[in-house]
Amino acid sequence: MRISLRLIIPLILGVVLVALLSAYFQVKAEKRARRDDLQQRTKVLADSLAQSVEPLLQKPSRKELQNLVDRLGSRERLAGVVVYDESEQAIAMTAGLADRLAKRPDAVGWAISRNQSVGQFFLLGQTPMHVLAVPLNQDGLVLGALAIFQDASYINAQSARLWRNTFLRVLVETLFIVLVTLLIMRWSFVGPIAKTAQWIRELRAGRPVETRSLPAAGLFRPLAQEVTHLARSLETARAAAEEEARLRAAGESFWTPERLRVHVQTTLREKRLFVVSNREPYMHIRRGKGVEVIVPASGLVTALEPILRACEGTWVAHGAGDADREAVDKQDRLRVPPDEPQYTLRRVWLTKEEEEGYYYGFANEGLWPLCHIAHTRPTFRASDWEYYQQANRKFADALLEEMAGTKEPAVLVQDYHFALLPRILKEQRPDARVAIFWHIPWPNPQAFGICPWQRELLDGLLGADLVGFHIQSHCNYFLDTVESALESRVDWDHFAINQRGHLTRVRPFPISVTISEPAGDSLAKSGAVYLERAALFKQLGVEATFMGVGVDRVDYTKGVLERFRGIERFLEKYPGYRGQFTFVQIGAPSRTHIKRYQDLLGEVESEADRINGRFQRGNWRPIVFVKRHHTHREIDQYYRAADLCMVTSLHDGMNLVAKEFVAAREDEGGTLVLSRFAGASRELRDALLVNPYDVEQLADAIRFALEMDPEEKKARMRRMRHGVREFNIYRWAADLIKELSEIRLDPSTPVKDHQPKP
Ligand code: G6P
Repeated sequence: MRISLRLIIPLILGVVLVALLSAYFQVKAEKRARRDDLQQRTKVLADSLAQSVEPLLQKPSRKELQNLVDRLGSRERLAGVVVYDESEQAIAMTAGLADRLAKRPDAVGWAISRNQSVGQFFLLGQTPMHVLAVPLNQDGLVLGALAIFQDASYINAQSARLWRNTFLRVLVETLFIVLVTLLIMRWSFVGPIAKTAQWIRELRAGRPVETRSLPAAGLFRPLAQEVTHLARSLETARAAAEEEARLRAAGESFWTPERLRVHVQTTLREKRLFVVSNREPYMHIRRGKGVEVIVPASGLVTALEPILRACEGTWVAHGAGDADREAVDKQDRLRVPPDEPQYTLRRVWLTKEEEEGYYYGFANEGLWPLCHIAHTRPTFRASDWEYYQQANRKFADALLEEMAGTKEPAVLVQDYHFALLPRILKEQRPDARVAIFWHIPWPNPQAFGICPWQRELLDGLLGADLVGFHIQSHCNYFLDTVESALESRVDWDHFAINQRGHLTRVRPFPISVTISEPAGDSLAKSGAVYLERAALFKQLGVEATFMGVGVDRVDYTKGVLERFRGIERFLEKYPGYRGQFTFVQIGAPSRTHIKRYQDLLGEVESEADRINGRFQRGNWRPIVFVKRHHTHREIDQYYRAADLCMVTSLHDGMNLVAKEFVAAREDEGGTLVLSRFAGASRELRDALLVNPYDVEQLADAIRFALEMDPEEKKARMRRMRHGVREFNIYRWAADLIKELSEIRLDPSTPVKDHQPKP
């Protein structure tokens, strides 16, 4: 209120002052105009009267003159008329005027002496008067003067009226302006400020707030955004501190973002962290007239994002979004996450041909099926191989540019898109510690041997100081492959390869996800799960009791068709579940530029339709295939609501969906049906492990999951959650970085200056 007064009082004073000044000048101008008008009218009257008076002046008798004066004096508004002789003596005067006119006005003398009309305003007693004296002439001689007296008090009365009206107008205007100002202040300032203060207060007190972002529009939007960021950072810092304290109190030593940050700082010291992957963590996509930011469906992105957030590094990736170029600065960089910037994303641009040859061609039609034993033949084209080499050099250039000026940088290269990158990097920057992490399986030497460029690929990989896989058997196959394809010394005792004097260590690092501790009372009650499930079913337009969920990129390695056949068999074998069990398959279309993927999308759809056609009744159907990209938040809802999650990869490096499902189940409910060909099966031993090719086993696993004793279900989930918590993504990063930082560099090799291409 004090602020309002401070604003309103000067406002009122200002408005009053301006209005009074303008009224003053208005009244003054009005008065002048009326006086001029009076003078004007009197002059016309006087000139015509003078003509009547002049002939009577020579007459000896003053009677006629007096009669004329009496007649004239009775006119409206005229106070009187006086005729003076040349010695300024009154010779005829309107009756009654003589008593009031004690003194002759000066105008009379001036008119006679100057022989011209003179007007004068003066006070007659209390009455404002105007007199106009006109000289009376005969034959060029001034014989006297005619003075016409007018009552001018009406001019003052009108001025007073004008003042009063102006005052009232100002009063009303001021009141109106004050009212409008108060309303504007209330709506635009006081309201939002009070809301902001309340929001911050709630947050500070640790109470749940209605919205995650501070609601504000217009003037306050930039401020609200900043306050929201500040509040979120505060919230995150508080959660981290609470988590640390809780872990310390419980004597546990789980890895947290905070711990990872400290670990990275102490192990790498000033060395900065660089990550390179093909897929970027944020894509700017055009949607209608606007631009939307999406997080692509990729296990790699899910895993790396928390590390970059914790360590403030630089992530180099392909700018594949159609609005990506609009979001970067001149150096093709931007800070991300967009609403809470924590690290730098450097985008690399590829031509259509490069993307076609390197990404779709060599990486995804060659290496992907080569490494996944999933019965899709790899295709190797010489032109794709050319583009693969070219793209690897391009990403290397971008990385070298980013690393310029950083001593002994730590580089984490990601995946099969960049087998050649470690060698190129090390040649330019021998002081860099380079690791490559292979997110997909490594096949046996015979399978890998069919690649026409296996030696070049292996040579490129061995440029790295460290090569990581998810599981030990992939490390073994890698060593086997190197041994059978290259001239090098494989040290099985230390899991290292010595090639031309350079040592590459090979280690398993099972990748993971983040998992948060349920906040006490937020441990979802089964009732809440049912409510959520019913709402999701309603959204999907089905009626069912039990829910199964699958979340995949539509990829032939994920075993989606096998999963559907398992569901079909389950309904055949256990008809009691018809009308009861619905499986929701969330399928993000992926790499649809490649025919095999396009065909697969169609196959998945028609297989779901076929099975639905067989069993569907009323509002129930066995499979709901939702073919679109979902956000993590949307997917999480399904994870939390489902009775079971099916991960049936035919072959998979790790498969983070399995771990995401476990991480989402704060209620310790739900069962995981997991392919034993996914890397995750090595850790999640409490899942129902299945062979996805075995339809009977799949059908029985679904039934077993639905009918499992609740206590056992809980115990299994609890153990899996404990495992994922212990081996979370921060631990994965910490282990990888620790191993990398312990590598001794060869001091003799000079660092080459990087000359970025013009
Ligand atoms: C796998 C790969 C990742 C890749 C992801 C999504 O998880 O290991 O490198 O990002 O699939 O595939 P995409 O081709 O869309 O990036």
